[in-house]
Amino acid sequence: MSLPAPPPLDPARLAALDAADEARLPLDDPLAASSSLRAAGHGADATAWALSQRSFRASARSKLGDRAEQMLFTRAGLEQASRAELAARHAATLRAAGASAVVDAGCGLGADSLAFLDAGLDVLAVEIDEETAALTAWNLARHPRGEHARVVVADVLELLEGGTLAADGEWGRFALWFDPARREAGASGRRRTFDPEAFSPPLSALTGLSAADPGRVIAAKLGPGLESGSVPGRFDIEWITHRQDTVEAVISTPPAHPGHPAARAVRLEPDAVLERPREPLEAPEGSREAHDDGAAPDLAPEIRPGDTLWEPVGSVLRAGFVRDLAAELDADLLDPEIAYVLSARESRSAPASHPLATGYRVLETLPLHTKKLKSWVRTEGVTELTVKKRGVDLDPAAVRRQLLAGSKASGKARKPATLVLTRHAGKRVALAVEPL
Ligand SMILES: C[S@@+](CC[C@H](N)C(=O)[O-])C[C@H]1O[C@@H](n2cnc3c(N)ncnc32)[C@H](O)[C@@H]1O
Repeated sequence: MSLPAPPPLDPARLAALDAADEARLPLDDPLAASSSLRAAGHGADATAWALSQRSFRASARSKLGDRAEQMLFTRAGLEQASRAELAARHAATLRAAGASAVVDAGCGLGADSLAFLDAGLDVLAVEIDEETAALTAWNLARHPRGEHARVVVADVLELLEGGTLAADGEWGRFALWFDPARREAGASGRRRTFDPEAFSPPLSALTGLSAADPGRVIAAKLGPGLESGSVPGRFDIEWITHRQDTVEAVISTPPAHPGHPAARAVRLEPDAVLERPREPLEAPEGSREAHDDGAAPDLAPEIRPGDTLWEPVGSVLRAGFVRDLAAELDADLLDPEIAYVLSARESRSAPASHPLATGYRVLETLPLHTKKLKSWVRTEGVTELTVKKRGVDLDPAAVRRQLLAGSKASGKARKPATLVLTRHAGKRVALAVEPL
């Protein structure tokens, strides 16, 4: 298969980067670093490029780990790169589906491709942007299995729809992985787009490919706001919260349980999964958050000190699984429309903690009135306040400022407190809580 390779990188730039690495030039003094490289004979462009690469590497560490030190970046490519832990999950999904090779269709700088190589897959990385593809080729070549990867500059849809890839004798063993660009040019620069048809490539292109070639392993990373109704029923969907952030939804076909596509709310670090079969007809928007199975939800009759208030992680909300989680927590809803659930203090089956929710012990129920809450802050001697809210139209930061105004912290012992502003059975309420 003859496909266009990326252009080579500028040797003068790479030499400047090598020199900066070898000399361990300090990141926090770019002027000194720049003078040192210029004095050693490196040109202005090469010096600026090398120093920006070192600074990208430093910022990429939290997302990509030690691997970042072996990579080259663009700002947009780094922003869009998959976190290392999530890329590993993408690779595991493809492997579990039986793939031994993958087309990384819109590979960016190759964070996913690197994880595919880690997992023993062969990689054909396709990137439409020539400058990005040149950096990706460098990034993949540094992997111990780098010879199992190839980077090409092309529009992947043209390759797929024009039959170029299908003409390859080994095409049968390739999975397709898409991580479409979710940014579009706007008046004030590039902004995130939430419409799956505005992705590049668009969601319909992926689902169309899958309809035409139903046995092919196809998976894609999409935004966490994905509505399950926009994804054909033959795909598994999982919404993923990594640590505290709900970062993506991944769709994949064929489903992990053959013939039984599932929706999953996933948390990574700590790991947990809540799974339910996908239903042919999805619940209408608006009923998803708290009770999407059509059954009348159980409502907590009252809120008492010692009860546990649970705040589900984002993937549970996005998947519409609050009610399913409430069953695991032996909890009731506070309000049909709000995603807080409550375990009664006498519950014997409520767990002490749960990876899919943050638990708070209820200390006191208070009226949601500024004057009364201010007086509570004074009486309790609160010096630091965390305000959380769901289902009430208030700005937690403004409420916090208002409640702490005039309470003099100096000289007082530190007294942190947490208030949850929400609704119970249709009425606004403030709950003083403490983390479990
Ligand atoms: C979200 S980024 C991929 C990030 C990558 N998965 C990673 O973890 O580093 C999407 C990339 O797809 C590329 N792209 C968009 N449309 C494409 C197309 N039709 N063919 C090939 N590449 C495309 C964009 O240039 C961009 O670099």
